[in-house]
Amino acid sequence: MSSTLGIDSPATSPFPPADSASRNLLIDANEAEELRREFLQPQPSLPSKYFYDQTGSELFDAICELDEYYPTRTEASIMQDNIDEMVDAIGTAGRLIEYGSGSSLKTRLLLDNMYPEVAYVPVDISGDYLQQVADQLRGDFPDRRIDPIAADFTRPFQLPKQQHAQSRDVVYFPGSTIGNFRPAAASSLLSQMRNQVGRGGGLLIGFDLQKAPAVLEAAYDDRRGVTALFNLNLLRHLNRVAGANFQMEQYRHVAFYNDINHRIEMHLESTREQRVQLAGCSRTIRKGERILTEYSHKYSMDGFTRMAADSGWRRESVWTDPNEYFAVAMFRS
Ligand code: TRP
Repeated sequence: MSSTLGIDSPATSPFPPADSASRNLLIDANEAEELRREFLQPQPSLPSKYFYDQTGSELFDAICELDEYYPTRTEASIMQDNIDEMVDAIGTAGRLIEYGSGSSLKTRLLLDNMYPEVAYVPVDISGDYLQQVADQLRGDFPDRRIDPIAADFTRPFQLPKQQHAQSRDVVYFPGSTIGNFRPAAASSLLSQMRNQVGRGGGLLIGFDLQKAPAVLEAAYDDRRGVTALFNLNLLRHLNRVAGANFQMEQYRHVAFYNDINHRIEMHLESTREQRVQLAGCSRTIRKGERILTEYSHKYSMDGFTRMAADSGWRRESVWTDPNEYFAVAMFRS
């Protein structure tokens, strides 16, 4: 494991390592730099990718099963109810490229139903896990081409060339993951997708809709406290991989709907003043001060369609549930 340890170069970092802790990081120099940059802002924040260690991934799966957490089950029902139209919109030949495929669980319905000449290209940053999932999928869908790519989808990455002129690329981006990006980053991600599939390509995307704040706030602050544990687990993860010394018991989970920016905000609020070390830097967190950990943007149908249009996407179809809680839309470039 030690071969991948990052050591900061004080010559290039504006935040040179302050102590020996920074020499034992399980993250690389770029990640350490990003952590320090976000954490040392006047409004401290932490990158949400650190939610997902083993425990965090399990807690996230538990969130998806909660009564209060409607998005997963609503999106699944929209897919079930409209699968025939969706597979026709994807087309008879080409590739379905899933950004951030993880366990590919939500994709099984599509894999079962898509035209046989459509290959599945799961893209995920976690290469080992991706290979495991791909092997499993090849066993379960022996007739389907499965071509995984290990990549960070937030940066441009290369796809192999298509073999046939008639086939088209469709990006699949479910789960309202787009909502976890700030508007500018969401727009540039949509543009990157557009550039990747080229003219005539597609985008099948799930996004969460604006609704009563009480429904939204319950979804991100459930009675059993699973989301609270998930949020707090980020601190434990950083203690392990980034030389941090967070005291989990001294933070509380705060989630609320910001109705000016149409987003759920998740924070960790300190219950006392404390000095925190992280990735070779340190700062004081005051009593009551909040560390931002996640945004989850909620869209209007028109607002989302406009944002996508500004990135070169024309909406072809949109499917929703009877409550209009969630939407899945097909765009064409
Ligand atoms: N994209 C989903 C959402 O915003 C899932 C998700 C991402 C999530 N990060 C989260 C859910 C943090 C709860 C807490 O709802």
